[in-house]
Amino acid sequence: GPEKRLLLLSFIFFYNHIIFSVPEKVEVYSVRVVCTVTCRFARTVMTSKALNKANVAQEISLEVELPKTAFITNFSMSIDGRTYAGEVKEKEKAKKQYDKAVSKGQSAGLVKASGRKMEMFSMSVNVAAGSGVIFVLIYEELLKRTLGQYEILTRVKVEQPVEEFQIAADIYEPQGLAFVEAVATFPTNELLPLIKKTMTDTKAHISFSPTAEQQRCPQCPNQLINGDFIIKYDVKREKGFGEIQAVNGYFVHFFSPPDLARVPVNVVFVIDRSLSMAGEKMQQTREGLVSILSDLHEDDHFAIITFDSFIRNWKDHLTLATKENVSEATKYAWSIQIGSATDINSAVLSAVTMLKSGRENKQVPERSVDMIILLTDGMPNTGELVLEIQQNVRSAIAGNMSLFCLGFGNSVRYSFLDVLSRENKGITRRIFTDSDAAVQLKGFYEEVSSPLLSDVELRYPDNAVSFLTKNQYGQLFNGSEIVVAGRLNGNDMDNFLVEVSGKGVRNTHLVLTEYIFGDFTERLWAYLTIQQLLEKRFKQEKEEAAAKALDMSLQYNFVTPLTSMVVTKPQIEDTEDNSFIADKLTEVDGDPHFIIELPGKDDALCFNINDKPGTIYNLARDQKSGFQVNGQIIGKKKFTPDAKNNTYFGRFGVTHQRLGVKLDVSTDDISVFHRGKNIRLQWSDTTTVKDAGLILSLTNNCSLTVTLRHSVKFMIVRHTKTWKKHHDTQAYLGFYTLDSHHLSSSVHGLLGQFYHGVEFEVTDLYPGQVEQKSDAVMYIKGRALNVTRHWQKDFSRDVKIGKDVLCWFVDNDGNGLIDGSASDYTVPDLFTV
Ligand SMILES: *[C@@H]1O[C@H](CO)[C@@H](O)[C@H](O)[C@H]1NC(C)=O
Ligand SMILES: *[C@@H]1O[C@H](CO)[C@@H](O)[C@H](O)[C@H]1NC(C)=O
Ligand SMILES: *[C@@H]1O[C@H](CO)[C@@H](O)[C@H](O)[C@H]1NC(C)=O
Ligand SMILES: *[C@@H]1O[C@H](CO)[C@@H](O)[C@H](O)[C@H]1NC(C)=O
Ligand SMILES: *[C@@H]1O[C@H](CO)[C@@H](O)[C@H](O)[C@H]1NC(C)=O
Ligand SMILES: *[C@@H]1O[C@H](CO)[C@@H](O)[C@H](O)[C@H]1NC(C)=O
Ligand SMILES: *[C@@H]1O[C@H](CO)[C@@H](O)[C@H](O)[C@H]1NC(C)=O
Repeated sequence: GPEKRLLLLSFIFFYNHIIFSVPEKVEVYSVRVVCTVTCRFARTVMTSKALNKANVAQEISLEVELPKTAFITNFSMSIDGRTYAGEVKEKEKAKKQYDKAVSKGQSAGLVKASGRKMEMFSMSVNVAAGSGVIFVLIYEELLKRTLGQYEILTRVKVEQPVEEFQIAADIYEPQGLAFVEAVATFPTNELLPLIKKTMTDTKAHISFSPTAEQQRCPQCPNQLINGDFIIKYDVKREKGFGEIQAVNGYFVHFFSPPDLARVPVNVVFVIDRSLSMAGEKMQQTREGLVSILSDLHEDDHFAIITFDSFIRNWKDHLTLATKENVSEATKYAWSIQIGSATDINSAVLSAVTMLKSGRENKQVPERSVDMIILLTDGMPNTGELVLEIQQNVRSAIAGNMSLFCLGFGNSVRYSFLDVLSRENKGITRRIFTDSDAAVQLKGFYEEVSSPLLSDVELRYPDNAVSFLTKNQYGQLFNGSEIVVAGRLNGNDMDNFLVEVSGKGVRNTHLVLTEYIFGDFTERLWAYLTIQQLLEKRFKQEKEEAAAKALDMSLQYNFVTPLTSMVVTKPQIEDTEDNSFIADKLTEVDGDPHFIIELPGKDDALCFNINDKPGTIYNLARDQKSGFQVNGQIIGKKKFTPDAKNNTYFGRFGVTHQRLGVKLDVSTDDISVFHRGKNIRLQWSDTTTVKDAGLILSLTNNCSLTVTLRHSVKFMIVRHTKTWKKHHDTQAYLGFYTLDSHHLSSSVHGLLGQFYHGVEFEVTDLYPGQVEQKSDAVMYIKGRALNVTRHWQKDFSRDVKIGKDVLCWFVDNDGNGLIDGSASDYTVPDLFTV
């Protein structure tokens, strides 16, 4: 998942189909992923080559998933012997260049990094009949040591045998390699013997290149190579004080001494038992906790606090982790019961009090580390406001203990926990609501349960270095590593003394004089500096840090959350091109649930509209291009007095005057009118219609994606819902705007008014009237609205199951959020302009 410190990348090709014919051939004939690691700094080059074997031009797309911790540094594509290279630009400027290229009819692609989630890189390009395209993507990352190893993970999915397929890694670690391992989780084990590994003291080479024949797997014809390719390794740490690499004016110091003893911990587990934890989450928490308890060392102390709106202590003081005490605590852990609201403030404060009195009463050893592990799945909804909680906790802890937060599931207020932990020498980790949640909990505890040093400070000669990255750390854990980099003021390394101090079982004060030479240090330093500047964006120095991070991202060619990379390709004659920024903004689905997703904010707004069956609403209208979407409401087939009479969208009328396109999409079928032609499609067809300016593709019996060139891209999804009770099946439609940034600024309509974003702020959280629905006040369009937290389903990615989206719900048919009222948007006819 996104919190993993791995290199994760997936590799998927898509093919476009031509009008009513069998899929024409795009052959991906070469895929190479080559990773070069020098002193933990990994640079990966992905090269893929594809050929359009059809006798018409086709679009070829590339999608790559990479972790947020990697920065893309270059992308290029070669078509017909010409190479078009990407340029890293400030986000806004990149957008302008992209728009300009597209308006001139050029093909353009944009690489975007989007905050803390996994990042998607995608690029589509139209390739003439018989021509090929070569994509080259490069990204860099500092590998992080966790539980005694570094991991390089490549996720690969190839849908047809590839003539030339290779994953290779070259690792160079001057400190010496302790071990190197390569494994893969492919559908078949038959390919595993093809992994080759050679190793010397400091270098390793791993390669995996199955032939097209070997890639054919009889048991898994549609999957072939589909899974993770993982390389794990560690370096030798014989010297007590770590290694320094210095070259070309920069140095890097890796610090993870091998011979320190573990410091006992005093840990308070603070467990959320509010209503939203009910069911599987609570059971997984119990399992995780029980398994963590069994790993406590006999010289550790611990406590368990559970909270909803009340705080419950297992014992009101710390307990020594002897076998008997742990076994008693285990019984308690199994018995934790669900309650109601979420009072994080009081719960954390009582953990602090417990740890403090452990110290005051001299109950815990003087040489021990105090920590709190908070597990919650929601956000505070009783008592204090978030800012007050952060303030209260910070002043209570006063730098004397670490607070780690585990955010369980999607509804958790991650940024709140993130600030809370950063301000108190800890970190926040997301726990995914999957079957392995208990394992994730335990895995996290393993990482932090063996502190070797706390309050670590690494000092370098003042006059010899400048622009140091972070050199003070709350703690050093067994199996991890501290990395500090900086610029050298001169070439004289003779008097380069490094001092490291920290509190361990014994006070540690090391003086280091040795160093060796590497050859990559400046980029590593830049990488680390930018990452740490980006983290600062949570605090007061925010703006200054962001400006510095932007400058450095541009200087070193890194795609970070502040920059984008643009690639443009001149128009090739006789080809239609289209490529879009992969932003998703607005949609309507369900009975009608309107969702406005705001990717930049990582948040969403939503509202419902209830009206009589037959009513037609205008969803979008852009006078400049003549693009318009109207939707008609239908009801349930059978109304019953007891049931809620939900309504849905049952039919959409879409017009695009400039392109001469008209679509009539109902739950029964789809009619396309284009340049005097009329095509009728059934939902069960799987096909692509491609005609001047229009690409329409129908898949999965329920999903229609329409691209109107240089204008807009949207998707209509057909659902069928069965009410068992009434033996009744109902079909209805959802509308998803996938890209709208080419539409003019005057675009309006129920969805259209949000196409260019909307500014809002949410404050004043207070306890909800309804359980688990915390209310807040939202300031938007100059108004204050009462809003509640809701879940809505977004079916644009996964058409069958959907994805839960958390949003701020505006009651009363969206009044206050939308301009005017819902009735202002009704129109008499599906195609009324
Ligand atoms: C990116 O790659 C292209 C093509 O290989 C190359 O010409 C260009 O110099 C590279 N840019 C940077 C900044 O390395
Ligand atoms: C650190 O972890 C390794 C295993 O990853 C273990 O062998 C070693 O004993 C641990 N050291 C301490 C001090 O806990
Ligand atoms: C824990 O167990 C030990 C011995 O098993 C006992 O002496 C001690 O009092 C127990 N309770 C606490 C709070 O440490
Ligand atoms: C907490 O830290 C402060 C200063 O950081 C120190 O003065 C105080 O004694 C510490 N309290 C405890 C209980 O260790
Ligand atoms: C649903 O519609 C039916 C028929 O119009 C009506 O009798 C019933 O009261 C409605 N139910 C609700 C909950 O509004
Ligand atoms: C398509 O959906 C319809 C209605 O849900 C169903 O009856 C039909 O079997 C489906 N066809 C395929 C090929 O899945
Ligand atoms: C929001 O809710 C509060 C508390 O229920 C109420 O006092 C206030 O009038 C409401 N504001 C609006 C705009 O509805």
